[in-house]
Amino acid sequence: MAENEWQDVKSLVLYFSLTGNTEHAAEQIQEIVGGDMQRIVPINPYPDDFNDYMRVAKHEMELQLFPPVATTIPDLQKYDVIFIGYPTWWSEPPRIIDSVFDKFEFAGKKIIVFSTSSGTPFEATQPHIKQLIEDDQALMIAGFRCDGDSENIKNQLAAVHLTY
Ligand SMILES: Cc1cc2nc3c(=O)[nH]c(=O)nc-3n(C[C@H](O)[C@H](O)[C@H](O)COP(=O)(O)O)c2cc1C
Repeated sequence: MAENEWQDVKSLVLYFSLTGNTEHAAEQIQEIVGGDMQRIVPINPYPDDFNDYMRVAKHEMELQLFPPVATTIPDLQKYDVIFIGYPTWWSEPPRIIDSVFDKFEFAGKKIIVFSTSSGTPFEATQPHIKQLIEDDQALMIAGFRCDGDSENIKNQLAAVHLTY
């Protein structure tokens, strides 16, 4: 879709970010598509120390926990498209993304997924996120990895077709 066409779409850029990379990607996306942006905030903050948050994250993954989400979305129904962004954790979306699908009702929404990682491609996390989206009866219309390069994001968004 051309950049000016995004302005006619009511978008929400919803993202989780622990160390800032996904937040940066979310900002770059919102700059192009406009709309609202909302950070996914856990009720129990992750520790600051690298080893400590790795341990907490590993525990969540191993036990397939649903870390509770503090974020609220005032009027989810007003959005046509919801972007969902997350860092890649051991080739999966972080468990808080499962919590997000538990908490919010995305049925009938068009969803565009973006991941960040230090190298793992989007495709690694695709089966899990696709299942969450399908289980919620929403439509995944695109998915891509943001590598920090704004040209890459522009190209990915240009390749999206909203008529599905
Ligand atoms: C718990 C944990 C697991 C990670 N696992 C992977 C991985 O499997 N593959 C990868 O390429 N990067 C991995 N990373 C790196 C992050 O995906 C990458 O730094 C991401 O951009 C961080 O996003 P954020 O700054 O928004 O939190 C991992 C990072 C953490 C904290």
